[in-house]
Amino acid sequence: MSETGWPERFWGPETLDPAAWAELTPLLDTREEIEALVGALVGVASIADVGGGTGLLTRALAARVAPVVVVEPSAAQRAVLDGVREARIRCVAGRAERVPLGEGAVDAAMATWVLQYTEDPVQAVRELARVARTRVVIVQAAARNDLVDVYNEEAQVAGLACAHHGWLLARAREVLEERGFAVESSVVPTPVAAPPGGAAQLAEVLARLHFAGHPEVGEMRRATEGMIAARLAAGGGALRDDGEMLVGTRPSTRPR
Ligand SMILES: C[S@@+](CC[C@H](N)C(=O)[O-])C[C@H]1O[C@@H](n2cnc3c(N)ncnc32)[C@H](O)[C@@H]1O
Repeated sequence: MSETGWPERFWGPETLDPAAWAELTPLLDTREEIEALVGALVGVASIADVGGGTGLLTRALAARVAPVVVVEPSAAQRAVLDGVREARIRCVAGRAERVPLGEGAVDAAMATWVLQYTEDPVQAVRELARVARTRVVIVQAAARNDLVDVYNEEAQVAGLACAHHGWLLARAREVLEERGFAVESSVVPTPVAAPPGGAAQLAEVLARLHFAGHPEVGEMRRATEGMIAARLAAGGGALRDDGEMLVGTRPSTRPR
């Protein structure tokens, strides 16, 4: 591990359980993240949302900014989005490492909370830069994030490495700057409400989110429940899943 607390290199991909994701999403308060994304993408005419999932953020962007093509590898995630009757959203099967769109096919490409699930996050960022004419937006966990702390506790139970959002953000910035993007970053607050079953239920959902089917998932739940309860109490009934948002803009397209 580096002195920043992040692993030295990418050890992923992490896995995500769509059923646990469906249980977690109603607890996420994405209002500030949506406002930040709308602000970052204002003025673009088309968006690729790579790893758009069930469209938690996509729907707001399609309604408020521009038509969105979602590139998503999971059939279970796409099935939710396919049920949304929204003319400005198109959904295609595909992966961030090889986005099924041509060079400069869209004004803006985004990947929010996705890079840790890819086989090759550096290649994924190169792909975002390839398909985007003017802007690339990436969100990963901020340095202080309760859900990452819970993940790291679970990983410790399983003897696995800790999460590496800081590593991903640093590499993503490098790739974008190499390609001539000017990159700005900001922290985006995302509170996570407690479900009706409180810390016990949240510990169970979070353990399944990344470790569904793992033989130690029960031990992970037991290991994190106390920590979640304490943080919920300290946080006025909410955890924090704050993100760091990178906005890369090609200089020739920056507003004056
Ligand atoms: C935590 S969800 C985030 C969904 C959405 N971007 C959001 O912020 O609400 C991660 C998504 O990345 C998708 N994913 C996993 N591997 C991927 C890959 N190699 N390329 C693109 N997306 C991937 C998952 O299926 C899932 O929908």
